[in-house]
Amino acid sequence: MEKATRIKKIPPYLFAEIDKKREAAIKRGVDVISLGIGDPDLPTPGYIIESLYRSVQNPTNHQYPSYIGSLNFRKAVADWYRRRYNIELDPETEVMALIGSKEGIAHMFWAYIDPEDYALIPDPAYPVYKTGTIFAGGVPYIMPLRAENNFLPDLSAIGTEIAKKAKLMFLNYPNNPTAAVASLEFFQRVVDFARENNILVCHDSAYIDITFDGYKAPSILQAQGAKDVCVEFGSLSKPFNMTGWRIGYAVGNKEALANLAVIKTNIDSGQFNSIQDAAIDALKGPEDQINRMIEVYKKRRDLVVDTLKNIGIDIEKPKGTFYIWAPVPHGYTSAQFAEMLLEQTGVIVSPGNAYGNYGEGYFRISLTISEARLIEALERMKKYLKFK
Ligand code: MLT
Repeated sequence: MEKATRIKKIPPYLFAEIDKKREAAIKRGVDVISLGIGDPDLPTPGYIIESLYRSVQNPTNHQYPSYIGSLNFRKAVADWYRRRYNIELDPETEVMALIGSKEGIAHMFWAYIDPEDYALIPDPAYPVYKTGTIFAGGVPYIMPLRAENNFLPDLSAIGTEIAKKAKLMFLNYPNNPTAAVASLEFFQRVVDFARENNILVCHDSAYIDITFDGYKAPSILQAQGAKDVCVEFGSLSKPFNMTGWRIGYAVGNKEALANLAVIKTNIDSGQFNSIQDAAIDALKGPEDQINRMIEVYKKRRDLVVDTLKNIGIDIEKPKGTFYIWAPVPHGYTSAQFAEMLLEQTGVIVSPGNAYGNYGEGYFRISLTISEARLIEALERMKKYLKFK
């Protein structure tokens, strides 16, 4: 049977491909160390697991949940925004639960993109922004993220015609994969641009809580007028080590959330109540849990950056995310470098070009692996690259 053309138009999903390579290498007997996917190795904190256990004892929680999330979950997200960013959100209309933020991000395109519509997509970027556009029949208009512009899109390079045609803009800071951060002043310029051109800005804030050296990342909703044109996607995956739980949220512009809800109610039935209950306790829980986790990533970040420096790859210590975005050495393409590293050392990194054409020349290391394994991976890389 002939598959849909939308599937033929997209490349294989990056992280599933990395998994395949890892499994194949393990089958060959290689001691693989994967620095590929950003999947926290630290466990979900005990108080969240206990909360799930308590909630699951209640049989009413075994029935269908609310499509848009329980009011208590939405209130907990609103409290979180008030506490951390001093932003008021109406939990009834300005917050909704997601089955992980990836799900909400992908479905937002169905709510806003008709065939041939433009979406402004950063490059390099998390692959879902581009494939989400293509799945909806839209046209991804690429906003290059260049080192010389601190990996921020150059808004002035988006012509008036494109800006008028575009319906969505996707952004993500602290940024995956480049680890760059954005200031509130930059977000203000984005909001002004979006208001002028009637564009919905979708900000993926998955790494907003993972910041270092005293830096605190802003929410785009802190910009003046942001609620008129912005939705922010948040996730419990990274701050609470809950990637497998699939719980996230969307906050901001209420019309956009209502439109997303139309898509979602026709496609899914909401997230399990007990997972939402555990997420409420996560959001209300002790802040020092996040601080402790940041300390762990900071130590790993320093270890990687210092070691890379040692072998001639000179990069700054990033202020956010648990990724290191480094230039490929020795003039290889990023794909060749990643392939070779796996073959010669058993270490998996993700090649920059997998995040888009403007990722070429870089590779990404994820810090979500124990210090001992990270040291081992760096030792192998060091040995191999010194001989090159
Ligand atoms: C990544 O490695 O970029 C992330 O883990 C992917 C995700 O959050 O889905």
